[in-house]
Amino acid sequence: MCGIVACRGREHASDFLLAALRRLEYRGYDSAGIAVTGTDRDDLRATRAVGRVAALEARIALERPAPGLGIGIGHTRWATHGGVSEPNAHPHRDCNGAIAVVHNGIIDNAAELEAELRGRGHVFTSQVDSEVIAHLVEELYAETGSLAAATVRVVGRLRGTWALAVTAASAAEVVLASHRSPLVVGSGPDAHFAASDITALAGTVGSVCVLRDDDIVVLGDQVTWLDPMGREVPPRESVRLQWAAEDIEQGAYDDFMEKEIAEQPSVVGRLLERLLPEVLDGALWTQLDLPRPSRLRFVACGTSLHASQVVARTFGALAGVPAETVVASEYDELAASGPDEGLLTIAVSQSGETSDVLHALEDVGGPVLAITNRPHSSLARRSHAVLETSAGPEIGVAATKTFTTQVVAGAALALSFAAVTKSLGTTAVARHALRLGSLPGRLESAHTTAFPVAMALAEELAESRTFFFVSRGGGLPYAAEGALKLKEITYRNAEAIPAGEFKHGPIALIEKGTPVLVLENGDAARLAGSVAELASRGARIIRIGSGSEDTFPILSGPAPAWGPLESVLAFQHLARCLAVTLGRDADKPRNLAKSVTVL
Ligand code: F6R
Repeated sequence: MCGIVACRGREHASDFLLAALRRLEYRGYDSAGIAVTGTDRDDLRATRAVGRVAALEARIALERPAPGLGIGIGHTRWATHGGVSEPNAHPHRDCNGAIAVVHNGIIDNAAELEAELRGRGHVFTSQVDSEVIAHLVEELYAETGSLAAATVRVVGRLRGTWALAVTAASAAEVVLASHRSPLVVGSGPDAHFAASDITALAGTVGSVCVLRDDDIVVLGDQVTWLDPMGREVPPRESVRLQWAAEDIEQGAYDDFMEKEIAEQPSVVGRLLERLLPEVLDGALWTQLDLPRPSRLRFVACGTSLHASQVVARTFGALAGVPAETVVASEYDELAASGPDEGLLTIAVSQSGETSDVLHALEDVGGPVLAITNRPHSSLARRSHAVLETSAGPEIGVAATKTFTTQVVAGAALALSFAAVTKSLGTTAVARHALRLGSLPGRLESAHTTAFPVAMALAEELAESRTFFFVSRGGGLPYAAEGALKLKEITYRNAEAIPAGEFKHGPIALIEKGTPVLVLENGDAARLAGSVAELASRGARIIRIGSGSEDTFPILSGPAPAWGPLESVLAFQHLARCLAVTLGRDADKPRNLAKSVTVL
């Protein structure tokens, strides 16, 4: 969704801004723009374009602007308020075109501020709530003569959520402000930078400071931090950026999704190197310093919800803790569910910025544990403890390695909890840990086997409009994840159904050749009856299992507590190969954004 970048002090601000905006493309957007200050300090040039950053670049190349002062702001917009159009794209400017603002979030009181500003003669050129900020800054900058002081007073008038960057023709600085929307700042040898997503700064700075709610930061000759009253305060603690520039390069792969699928064995290997030594003695759990829960409630959306379902089952199986899973956007339905004593809420979100999850947590009274790939995200900051999944940057919109690492981190945590509570004996803990430790090898071999099978199937199934994913018990969240992956990147209908449920209605949909993916979980014999019913009605049965007769023979040994994780390699490859065969953009499926920051 929307992204912000800013810089102060680079000779050609637009070079940095465009490159940084390209790094944010993966988030999903429909228009882009930049504003840079010109050479004579009276000049502020804003360029916007509907469509990809490439369209913006083409327009800038056409205009051939003179090199500026190295001060600028940029934005990718994912439309919410107001349609997709150039006037609605950011940056937004004041009446004189001398102040530019980019904004992520929603200004709840925009209508009333706009009416007030129009009453004082301001002219609005967009339908976007963010434009009020530019006009408010216009008034208060004229009054105070300081962009920072003006911004402090402007944010005092806003209600809602914002990450914003402001610059002005006559001010050699960029002012940033944040309230419930992420922003980070970092410095290189000759310039200061800001972005709403660290991916934009990987390789440009070695460390960043994360703005907290209501921080104001001025990128001038120095970086100055202000409190909401405008008083100078010490900077926030700086954190080292673990992502290098090459981590966000596509390399030799055809798309990022292919790269990220292939990375899973090594990413899981690195994660387990970190977590496994702390599983046997329970340190992984105890270091989180959380009260011991009597029950768990997982809160998440989409793929992270499927990972939560796996981890909830694993906690139940290994540690005997009752665990439920709640769709984050439905959380308010639980408001009257009674006292929460002994409850630990576990929020699972790769981005840590999903609005549905953050909103759900507003109703949570007790402790919250975040399982996230972004240890400096809004979710992480609002949680009492964080378990980092260390998947590295995931650029493809469809979650792949972040799912796998959520499952592995969650399973390791469940095992560690079982070791602490002694719900499993030492030998059993060691046995499960050994099985966890074998995952990188298992995933690697599933990857090698699944890829060519998926390619052949994609050719065969290109005309199929509906796919079913069937499993039982611990296989069901994986079947649901397989169906989600397929529908989001191929735009084909896909549904996950418990094997025994088919005969209660969905079997009516089976025609000759309908693809049904059957995932076993050490229960092939119990699945056999349902499969026979489907096959006899003409279904094209595609098996993911442990037998040599299976289409994807990628499982082996007894089913572990966390279920058939290796199956994701079959499902991810199939979804991607089919998307490629159908000519879809596997990395940027239509209508979707990487991090869903609207409710
Ligand atoms: C699907 C996908 C989405 C996300 C969901 C939650 O491939 O990526 O379903 O899983 O939007 O996102 P996070 O994990 O960032 O909270």
